[in-house]
Amino acid sequence: MPTLIETQNLCYEYKHENEITIALKNINISIDEGEFVVIIGHNGSGKSTLAKHLNALFLPSKGDVWIKGMNTRNEEQLWSIRQQVGMVFQNPDNQLVATIVEEDVAFGPENLGVPSNEIVKRVEDSLKAVNMLQYRRHAPHHLSGGQKQRIAIAGVLAMLPSCIVLDEPTAMLDPLGRKEVMDTIIDLNKSKGMTVIHVTHHMEEAIEADRIIVMAAGEVVQEGTPKTIFSQVNELKQLGLDVPQMTELAFALKQQGIHVPEGVLSLEEMVNCLCP
Ligand SMILES: Nc1ncnc2c1ncn2[C@@H]1O[C@H](COP(=O)(O)OP(=O)(O)O)[C@@H](O)[C@H]1O
Ligand SMILES: [Mg+2]
Repeated sequence: MPTLIETQNLCYEYKHENEITIALKNINISIDEGEFVVIIGHNGSGKSTLAKHLNALFLPSKGDVWIKGMNTRNEEQLWSIRQQVGMVFQNPDNQLVATIVEEDVAFGPENLGVPSNEIVKRVEDSLKAVNMLQYRRHAPHHLSGGQKQRIAIAGVLAMLPSCIVLDEPTAMLDPLGRKEVMDTIIDLNKSKGMTVIHVTHHMEEAIEADRIIVMAAGEVVQEGTPKTIFSQVNELKQLGLDVPQMTELAFALKQQGIHVPEGVLSLEEMVNCLCP
């Protein structure tokens, strides 16, 4: 698959008066079209700072970020870059701008100058894709957190992006809302081929990824498939990270001398291997 996003020696410093915080140090990552990448790392490891570089909300202090061959420093391509890579943030209430769901979803394409008959179609398709079409005439503030996040995702989809970056979109949601949003993200990737970059601290949400990127203190410290990353329980714990429940259980069982094969991640896999 062709490369969609590439960072080359990306460094970023926050500057406040005399104080400098180095938030990203020499990040070199590459994301292919159609990939589902999960980024994990403890608080302050640089995940959000990295995410904001992926659609030119932030520009590198040093190094470069390329989106489909466009350098994010190139101001002339700013709108193309923003249209290619959509962002969804943690707080659903800060992302919705209109008083009616369908107007909210139409906001992005309207700003792009998309003709109105095309907007109607995009709004309908986007709301269908997040399973919220029946709420098109509702007021966003009456919806649940999970529903609001799905409207925010629909708003991004209406711009017809190649990629969607979600920065802890489930952090403020209850378990049902988390599941709704995760099911939506997974479906967008698996059945519509959307490239997804999902930042989370819920390890269960990383199980479905094609690849996990682990960050610590502004650096990428590990990269690999969920099976590879979660087989290193001690290393992850040293980084202050959890592991998925079943990985934890497999680890505890092994310490008790009960054999569990490497890479058991889901409840179903665990049941199958304990009660074949
Ligand atoms: N607006 C800011 N001003 C100064 N420092 C910041 C700011 N935002 C984040 N930082 C610092 O940059 C580092 C990375 O933060 P962040 O990207 O938010 O990490 P994460 O999303 O992984 O929690 C941390 O040390 C954090 O304190
Ligand atoms: Mg963050």
